[in-house]
Amino acid sequence: MGEIDPAFIQSIEHRPKLTVTDPGEIPVIDLSALDSGAVDLLVADIGKACEEWGFFKVINHGVPLEVVRRIEAAMKEFFDQSIDEKRKVKRDEAKPMGYHDSEHTKNVRDWKEVLDIAVEDPLVISASPDPQDQELTKYYNQWPEYPPEFRKILKEYAGEIEKLAFKLLELISLSLGLARDRLIEFFQGQTSFIRLNHYPPCPWPELALGVGRHKDAGALTVLFQDGVGGLEVRRKADGEWVGVKPIPNAYIINVGDIIQVWSNDKYESVEHRVVANSEKERFSIPFFFFPAHHVNVKPLEELTNEENPPKFKEYNWGKFMATRNRSDFKKQAVENIQIHHFRVSEH
Ligand code: OGA
Ligand code: NI
Repeated sequence: MGEIDPAFIQSIEHRPKLTVTDPGEIPVIDLSALDSGAVDLLVADIGKACEEWGFFKVINHGVPLEVVRRIEAAMKEFFDQSIDEKRKVKRDEAKPMGYHDSEHTKNVRDWKEVLDIAVEDPLVISASPDPQDQELTKYYNQWPEYPPEFRKILKEYAGEIEKLAFKLLELISLSLGLARDRLIEFFQGQTSFIRLNHYPPCPWPELALGVGRHKDAGALTVLFQDGVGGLEVRRKADGEWVGVKPIPNAYIINVGDIIQVWSNDKYESVEHRVVANSEKERFSIPFFFFPAHHVNVKPLEELTNEENPPKFKEYNWGKFMATRNRSDFKKQAVENIQIHHFRVSEH
């Protein structure tokens, strides 16, 4: 088996405990209440979950199971191919959508491989991080040749997952006391993408992580995971890492940094990570729900006032993404751009 490549090794304080504390505490929300008319209760439950956990699971979410089964089968077929085959759709700085097997989170390499597919093809985004530069660029998807139905299956999945994401966005708006459609306009020309994650078995689960601890930068993440488990969430109540136990066919939803800023810290974006597994491979499919590039992210006026002044300065989403993208291709000495860089200093 040899030795682990040092690029994967987490510093001691970030290494996982391989015994999981208190699984199954993340709230489970049943979206069938949307059809039965008990929307007020549902909205209250979602608000509570966003405040207390930043994470929840949804069941009866409306994404047809056969659509999920098809994308699961397609991703397995894709990742089962040789590395040379997969690298035919390799992403790089000019083509940031595609296959990648050496992602770093906080400068430590993740034990995983991914394939990123934008839901708008092409995805329109700022060409550079330079605030003066108004130029836009387009990211085109790179479609694998195999399996042959891949593109069709992905498009079908994207359509379904988008419907769920908008449903959740409306419920979250209501839970913040906003109009149901208050946040929708930010997603006209969305920069969302679907990531297919494959976590191969890892001989050193005590040293490496599938994904290192991080927060999601977007508005919401809508994640499908298989039955293997490994996702852990930093519990707000005590800072402990808690395992998110898989429920068959449920989705895991988490608040991202943009909702934290919009809500002026009412709903915080919570840290999470993926523990590696020495025996089993694992698959997961996050949908990162991102607004349009021109959106300037700042605390919503309705949610701030004199007693609760804005806690963040405005930032442009396209520039934020362009900055992230550039740093994705380099192992950097400095921290990746984060929302706390826009936090108004408190005295
Ligand atoms: C991510 C992530 C979790 C998982 O890709 O941002 O947190 O379970 N993934 O794969
Ligand atoms: Ni994440």
